[in-house]
Amino acid sequence: RISIHGQWSSRLMFILAATGSAVGLGNIWRFPYITGENGGGAFVLAYLICLAIVGIPIMMAEVLIGRRGRQSPVFSLQALAVEAGGNKAWRWVGWAGMLAGLIILSYYSVIAGWTLAYVVRIASGSLVRVTAEGASSIFAQLVIDPERLLAWHTIFMVMTIKVVSRGVKRGLEQAVKILMPLLFAMLLVLVIYAWRQGDFVQAYLFMFDSDFSKLTPSALLVALGHAFFTLSVGLGAMMVYGAYMPSGLSIAKTSILVGLLDTVVGLLAGLAIFSIVFAHDMAVGEGPGLIFQTLPIVFGQMPGGSFFGTLFFLLLVFAAWTSAIALIEPMVSWIVEKREIDRIRAAIWTGIVAWLLGIVTILSFSSWSFSFRFGGELKRHGLFDVLDILTSSIILPLGGLCIALFVGWVMSRESVVDEMGGRSGIDFKLWYFVVRFITPVAVVLVFLQAIGVV
Ligand code: PHE
Ligand code: NA
Repeated sequence: RISIHGQWSSRLMFILAATGSAVGLGNIWRFPYITGENGGGAFVLAYLICLAIVGIPIMMAEVLIGRRGRQSPVFSLQALAVEAGGNKAWRWVGWAGMLAGLIILSYYSVIAGWTLAYVVRIASGSLVRVTAEGASSIFAQLVIDPERLLAWHTIFMVMTIKVVSRGVKRGLEQAVKILMPLLFAMLLVLVIYAWRQGDFVQAYLFMFDSDFSKLTPSALLVALGHAFFTLSVGLGAMMVYGAYMPSGLSIAKTSILVGLLDTVVGLLAGLAIFSIVFAHDMAVGEGPGLIFQTLPIVFGQMPGGSFFGTLFFLLLVFAAWTSAIALIEPMVSWIVEKREIDRIRAAIWTGIVAWLLGIVTILSFSSWSFSFRFGGELKRHGLFDVLDILTSSIILPLGGLCIALFVGWVMSRESVVDEMGGRSGIDFKLWYFVVRFITPVAVVLVFLQAIGVV
């Protein structure tokens, strides 16, 4: 059976598409700034543990549900639940995921818009030899300019709608094939530069010297949430990519590869950014503006910096693009199935809703903000933080919990074994055990300690 939406043409295409979805602003923009905000070392270690025992096992579970269901997440979950004699209400997990995808896409597109603005800035040469203060003030000027941001946000959303409406082969595959390898190459240039010119040792110590006394309860939830966010799991994106995966490919091997690639990109980006931060005595806890305040300094100094800087931000836009596609695809595929309308219209309507919601984020950085308490101390937050916490720290982990329970306890062991390739060797047993017991317990514990119960 294949999905009505089409199928990836090869194993490599699945890997590229799934990596394209995973590798995005989450790795290069979000990971460094949340690591900075949460004190480094212990946070990074907690994050890596979450990836291993929660994120990657759930990625396999998601791909499995999608490939067995061969429909949008909502309908795949429903069909598999009914088949297993379970409750149709499992499709709610698909709805929650679509909502999360829509919300994340709304602000993702705004940040991608910042990135687009930087492409133009750097290409024009106006950041040559910029100082740390200069870079900060340029960023500050950008975020208080709602009209300009709205324009970039609109452009990015149109780009996303465009690819999604062209479908799996003509749209998604074409986009990832060229962009992913280029992005890896650019990242290496950046890392080599940061290693030779930045404060690499201090960056390394910051990221890997774990002092667990610095790990607050809410930081642990942020680490867990980012494990979901960065792997694109918990909302059905990997499920829908799994629905387009040819039978016969190994779910385990491909998922682990995608997870490892994503992890490497995040760690490299973090090392590069913090090398620059420390070399220029900047603050690690800058928040969402971190890479926009640090990278221009590097590109401003590097020989050929305008060229490399332009290329880097351009590739970051592309990385965001291949992720935005995955954020919107669960909903688009569902609308196409449910309403029997074409992809183009489904993509346009979904995109418009996310676009409108994006305005909240634009305003949140420029004018609206208020104080509330999440876990730790009372801090000033914008509505952006509300959307970010609601999705990455709440909906994604809860969605992931449901997905693990679904594959571990609702689906029959036989169908799980069958979809995983028919053999239940030691590697299967290990994963199955983790998904049934370790993953759910870990997610629940992190939640309970974040709200202060344990
Ligand atoms: N994984 C993407 C990133 O790291 C974000 C994303 C989340 C994409 C969920 C799709 C689904 O940037
Ligand atoms: Na990622």
